[in-house]
Amino acid sequence: MVDPPTAKRLVQVIHDNLPAPVGERRPVHTIGIGVNGRFVASEVARSYCIAEHFDGEPVDVSIRFSNGLGGLEQHDGWSDVRGMAVRFHLKNGTGSDLIATTLGEFFVRNVDDFFKFSDTAKREPFRRRHWLLKILDFLQLKIPQRNPYPGETQAIDAGALRYANQHRFSQLGIFQVGLIGAPASYARASYHAVHTFWVTAPDGVRRPVRFYWQPVAGVRNIKPTPEPCEKYLFDELKKRLKRWPARFMLMMTIGEEGDTLDDCTKPWPGTRLRIAMGTLTLTEIPEGEDQATAGERISFNPCRLAPGIEPSNDPILKARLGAYEVSREMRGGCPFKWRADNA
Ligand code: HEM
Repeated sequence: MVDPPTAKRLVQVIHDNLPAPVGERRPVHTIGIGVNGRFVASEVARSYCIAEHFDGEPVDVSIRFSNGLGGLEQHDGWSDVRGMAVRFHLKNGTGSDLIATTLGEFFVRNVDDFFKFSDTAKREPFRRRHWLLKILDFLQLKIPQRNPYPGETQAIDAGALRYANQHRFSQLGIFQVGLIGAPASYARASYHAVHTFWVTAPDGVRRPVRFYWQPVAGVRNIKPTPEPCEKYLFDELKKRLKRWPARFMLMMTIGEEGDTLDDCTKPWPGTRLRIAMGTLTLTEIPEGEDQATAGERISFNPCRLAPGIEPSNDPILKARLGAYEVSREMRGGCPFKWRADNA
């Protein structure tokens, strides 16, 4: 865990780089929608992890889908990372959270990297890059800067690309951000929790694992729509859930000797064993005041974990514990009971 001043600074640098103040809202993933759902673990899940939500009993779940950008404008059609934050509600009134995005890997390894990245990737005026220079970028294996969307005058893309071109470890994450596109639906994207966690099996064996959500309807992107403030993701989800519940499989990849356990910029080999841990069914989208609670006041934390799951020593994961609490307090989000020993 980072000390309180560092946790505050982590949140402050995000606020400092916003296009405009967001008031009492999240400084990133500002635009989001709360959804209710139910999770049922697979037969095999309980033999890998003793956490309550893997015991096979149906568990109530709160989900918040979001666009990655910070700011009050909703640009669903822009190429952007999307978020899926999930709370499994446990019997004793506590919860276990799993926060994931459409990025397979993150772009910084630790807090120092994050501050340096934030210094370089500041918002700056968008400059169109000549097509000849873009070809040169491709030849040098650099991702060329995209053209601005109508109405987009400032962005962090140029600075992020400069950072990526100077820091090899960040390239996988930042290049994915550059190419990520826009999903056809929040229910048609896969979401990765990126960090390593340790899970304990009933026989006491502890395994390093990584989690991701796979949409049962399949992954589908649309061509990014450059219209300013294009909004479709909330309505699409509402219509979809009126017709039929949407489902995700929770997948757990098991690490092996030699796999990186504390660096979320590094992927694991694609050959690792993957276990289907269960199925999440999105059932309804709360309306009115209930939506305000489910979408805005709720606050997730990646280190809020049920007994049987522990955080790894990944410095980004540890830093998020404090940073998310600082942000929650700043925006008046709901505190939530949690075990003091899982920090
Ligand atoms: C140093 C690294 C990071 C910092 C400083 C950071 C900071 C933040 C902050 C301040 C919030 C708002 C929290 C709130 O007010 O409730 C947030 C939300 C979020 N972050 Fe991060 N974050 C980091 C890394 C990550 C990573 C690695 C992921 C990928 C899994 C991620 C995914 C998300 C998502 C999905 C949300 C929205 C959660 C919600 O819907 O409530 N973040 N982040």
